[in-house]
Amino acid sequence: MHVTEAKAEHWPQIFPFFAAIVAEGETYSYPDGLSSDAARALWMPGPPSRTVVAIDGDQVLGSALTGPNRPGRGSHVATASFMVDPAVRGRGVGRALGVHVLDRARDAGYRGIQFNAVVETNTRAVALWQSLGFEIVGTVPGAFRSASHGFVGLHVMYLDLTTDERSTT
Ligand SMILES: CC(C)(COP(=O)(O)OP(=O)(O)OC[C@H]1O[C@@H](n2cnc3c(N)ncnc32)[C@H](O)[C@@H]1OP(=O)(O)O)[C@@H](O)C(=O)NCCC(=O)NCCS
Repeated sequence: MHVTEAKAEHWPQIFPFFAAIVAEGETYSYPDGLSSDAARALWMPGPPSRTVVAIDGDQVLGSALTGPNRPGRGSHVATASFMVDPAVRGRGVGRALGVHVLDRARDAGYRGIQFNAVVETNTRAVALWQSLGFEIVGTVPGAFRSASHGFVGLHVMYLDLTTDERSTT
C-alpha cells in the first residue's frame, strides 16, 4: 500500500465508500444522497486543497482531503478529512493516511493542524488521532446528530507542528 495524489480516475472507486460512510450517519455531516458529481466537488476541490488516496495495486483503499483550515490569516493551520473503505478498516490504512498528511503538512510549513468536527462517539478515529499526537481542544455539545446515538458532541482536535517530531509509525 502507498499513499499518492488522487487523480480523476480514482473517483469511481472513492465514491462508493464516500456514499456508504455518509449514509452510516455516524461520522460526517455531508448531506445524505449526494450525487457523484456533488460529492466529487466536495472531496476533490483542487488547490489549495489536496486529495490523496491509499492504493494497493489498482485498488483504492481510502482517501484523505487536506489543505488550509481557513483562508487568509488562518491559512498557516491545516485541516484534513479521512475516509477508509469499510471493507478494509482496521488494517492500518487510516493510520498511513494520517501519517502521510502530517508529514506533508510539516513539509508545507503549516504551524499546526486542526480537525474541526470529530464525532465524540467515533472512538476509532479519536484514538487514532490521539495516538498521532492530537489533543482534544474542546467539544461542542450535541453538535452532531448521530444515526445511532442521537445528539453527540463534536471534538475540535489540534496538533502543534512547530516542533520537529515526526510520526513515522
Ligand atoms: C477513522 C478511519 C479513517 C480509521 O481508518 P482505519 O483504516 O480503520 O484505521 P487503522 O486500521 O489505521 O487503525 C487506526 C486505529 O484505530 C483503532 N482501532 C482499530 N480497530 C478498532 C476497533 N475495531 N475499534 C476501536 N478502535 C479501533 C486503533 O487505535 C488503531 O490504532 P493502531 O494503529 O494502534 O492499531 C476509518 O475507520 C474511517 O474511514 N471511518 C469512517 C469515516 C471517519 O470516521 N473518518 C474520520 C473522521 S474524523
